[in-house]
Amino acid sequence: MPVTCVIGLQWGDEAKGKLVDLLTEQHEIVVRYQGGSNAGHTVVRDGQTFKLSLIPSGILGQGVKCVVTGGVVLNPASILDEISGLESRGIKVAGNMLLSDRAHVIFPWHIIEDRLLDKSCSSGENIGTTMRGIGPCYRDKVGRSLAIRLGDLFRDDFRSRVAYIVEAKTKHLGGLEPNVAEQLDAEKIYGEYMGYAERLRPYVADTTAYLLDAVEAGKKLLLEGAQGALLDVDHGTFPFVTSSNSSGAGVSSGSGIPGRWITKAIGVVKAYSTRVGGGPFPTEQDNEIGQLICDRGNEYGTVTRRPRRCGWFDAVAARYTARLSGVDSLAVMLLDVLSTLPELKICTAYDIGGKRTKVFPSHVDDLRQAQPVYETIPGWKDEITTARKMDDLPQAARNYLVRISELMERPVQVVSVGPDRQQTIFTQGTIG
Ligand code: GDP
Ligand code: IMO
Ligand code: MG
Repeated sequence: MPVTCVIGLQWGDEAKGKLVDLLTEQHEIVVRYQGGSNAGHTVVRDGQTFKLSLIPSGILGQGVKCVVTGGVVLNPASILDEISGLESRGIKVAGNMLLSDRAHVIFPWHIIEDRLLDKSCSSGENIGTTMRGIGPCYRDKVGRSLAIRLGDLFRDDFRSRVAYIVEAKTKHLGGLEPNVAEQLDAEKIYGEYMGYAERLRPYVADTTAYLLDAVEAGKKLLLEGAQGALLDVDHGTFPFVTSSNSSGAGVSSGSGIPGRWITKAIGVVKAYSTRVGGGPFPTEQDNEIGQLICDRGNEYGTVTRRPRRCGWFDAVAARYTARLSGVDSLAVMLLDVLSTLPELKICTAYDIGGKRTKVFPSHVDDLRQAQPVYETIPGWKDEITTARKMDDLPQAARNYLVRISELMERPVQVVSVGPDRQQTIFTQGTIG
């Protein structure tokens, strides 16, 4: 009964999609269990680039079942676009995917709220959300009284639910946006969502029951995390986080699969750090080094195309999230991006208010003050994108991986040296 989880350990975009695509062939079911269309996972297969957001990256493997669980917030228009985009490229989604009837649905009022409420939340800084209505939809889920789940779209009272919520939202938002009533027409929204519901009907199922049957029958499951553990709403850099549990802590609540079935968790890290949106980032390099990493790594957000902020590898943060997520081994991605840099730095501790610590701070203001303590490691000159085994890597690159493994107290199982599937080294436990 092997259930493997793939968890991003930084601020997202660690190349989880590539890893899930690589591991899919060893599994029967691939599960997406939190987040929504704030996620953007890019997978390169045989020179073709696929961008996935709500649909698990496992769909490209074909022959596996993909499941989107109740922990996800679902924008019906986005997933329908994604389905037709994949089908037009010969990827069969019909018959290969299930969507939970428990998944909460994103409505136009959530998008409006995201725009209106992403105002400065700490020290004058915005969260800088993806504006996909994620936070407002999760807020309504927890608030319960103004929430609609996918299964509700097929109930008799759906029309009256929409009318009731539109009235309430118009009142709530009227003070912030005077013309909100013009933007929220209950009948129009009802008609639009009935259209989506009909097209999504074949996919909708009780995925909790389906997954419980699957684990009890010993099926091989792969769970695909979205975002990164530092964006976890409870354990991340609050309030500069997303609105779900994106660390390993969210696996069971999001999927409905009890922790006792989870046999392996792989933590995915970039060989450096990136962050999109606001919030403290101790190892950020707002200088030519950061620019070089951004250019070499093509570090622009998949969803919003915003340039990602870039910096050195932060072993304090990544060790914290690896422990938090119960990670057994590591996948170190985008190592090739660091080639040509004469020397590399890894943050091994923080100085906060005159005290040195290896504990990741729980309050964002302490993190904001953290001065990274760096260890400097020699870089390597040559490009490494053609490396396929550890021996193909320069000694300096191997040393860098060994140091990451030591600081994170976990073996490196996978090293990625380019976006393509072939550009991957499985280390067979030789590092760490
Ligand atoms: P995810 O959100 O964690 O799935 O990551 P993204 O797909 O948003 O971002 C990772 C980006 O890096 C994508 O554009 C990938 O195609 C690309 N990528 C993945 N692995 C590598 C690698 O080893 N080297 C380079 N240069 N790019 C990679
Ligand atoms: P993947 O799955 C990187 C960031 C946003 C913002 C914060 C809150 O591709 O790794 P939200 O729209 O979720 O309310 O925004 O979280 N964010 C991500 N950053 N990768 C992601 O997903 C992200 N999903 C959300 O930029 O700072
Ligand atoms: Mg991404």
